[in-house]
Amino acid sequence: MEHIRLPMSRIRLALIGCGGMSRAHLRRFEILADRLELVAAVDVDETRAASVADVVDGIRTATNVEEVLDDVDACLLVLPHHLHHPIAMQCLQAGKHVLLEKPMAISEAQCLELIDTAKQRDLVLMVAYCMRFHPLVTGMKQLIDDKVVGDIFQVSIWTEQHTQYDEGHWGLKESTLGGGQLFSHGCHYIDILLWYMGRPVRGTHMGSNTGTEWMEREGTSNVTIEFEGGRLAYHFGTWGARATRLGYTFHAHGTKGMIEADIRAGELRVLRPGAEPEVVSEHESGKHTENEMRHFLDCISTGERPLTDGPGSLQGLRLIWRLYEAEDAGTLADLRGLGLDQVDASGQLLS
Ligand SMILES: NC(=O)c1ccc[n+]([C@@H]2O[C@H](COP(=O)([O-])OP(=O)(O)OC[C@H]3O[C@@H](n4cnc5c(N)ncnc54)[C@H](O)[C@@H]3O)[C@@H](O)[C@H]2O)c1
Repeated sequence: MEHIRLPMSRIRLALIGCGGMSRAHLRRFEILADRLELVAAVDVDETRAASVADVVDGIRTATNVEEVLDDVDACLLVLPHHLHHPIAMQCLQAGKHVLLEKPMAISEAQCLELIDTAKQRDLVLMVAYCMRFHPLVTGMKQLIDDKVVGDIFQVSIWTEQHTQYDEGHWGLKESTLGGGQLFSHGCHYIDILLWYMGRPVRGTHMGSNTGTEWMEREGTSNVTIEFEGGRLAYHFGTWGARATRLGYTFHAHGTKGMIEADIRAGELRVLRPGAEPEVVSEHESGKHTENEMRHFLDCISTGERPLTDGPGSLQGLRLIWRLYEAEDAGTLADLRGLGLDQVDASGQLLS
């Protein structure tokens, strides 16, 4: 008989890691108040946990995950990358569903252990690729699939921001970040390119920390990927932008026109030859983490597989690791055989 999960009342959640990104999640919890109860805030820095308790009534704080696991159904992990694996394992082994900030973990072996543990225990393991739930990004996917501007032959994604961590921060070092700007931030856009374009064939990465000397590995990243059928994608990301015009922008060129997602302006546009740009949807800018959390809660209550599940997320990280290896070796990366052959028509991995 097919697996059935009865709908639960409110999911009791612990927020683990109360730094910068936790605020983006917190801002949107209220939207889901009928389905979600934040019961605990955990941070090794007790002032950070306390600052969450200051804005959410009735929650408890702790400096160690262990102290809160008995009281929750699920955990949202917003932690330094080298801690994703050990703390997510602790939560899964205690029988808790896990929504884990990206990137899943800093090695393939760690990712596989998380995937396997969640599977063995029938728990939801979802990676928080919030851009996959952004209405402009999902809207663009729909326009591409509907061939609104014909067949797409080129997708370009730019992300330009200034990110300079303080001395001693885990984000500066390759061993704690897991790589450079591409691994840490570009993983969002590699994941989206795979979702939009399907199977990659080969690619290159060039990264540099010129202009972002605070980074141990690259702070600026240029990726080119060839997909099946000769279709191309380009991703440029930098943490060194002192100013920007493009901000976060996606372009898709098709045989009949172009689609543009201007994330900062909050507009999705279709451009056709000889016509004014048509704004097909508008959404406020910022991270739409409420959509991501809603999907996580749905997966807990229905047993449905997350759109950004462990196996799917691992494909993007494998691609990045192959690009890094080829960059170090001065060669072109062979991107075939990342496990994408196991994906069904809707993009879900079969195994
Ligand atoms: N989706 C996005 O757009 C986005 C944006 C920024 C960051 N992130 C992700 O969020 C995660 C955290 O990034 P951040 O910018 O919030 O970092 P941060 O350094 O601001 O916050 C991390 C927090 O974890 C706490 N911490 C460290 N060790 C701990 C432990 N053992 N137990 C409990 N707490 C511990 C730190 O004290 C700190 O408060 C990373 O995975 C990052 O990639 C995602």
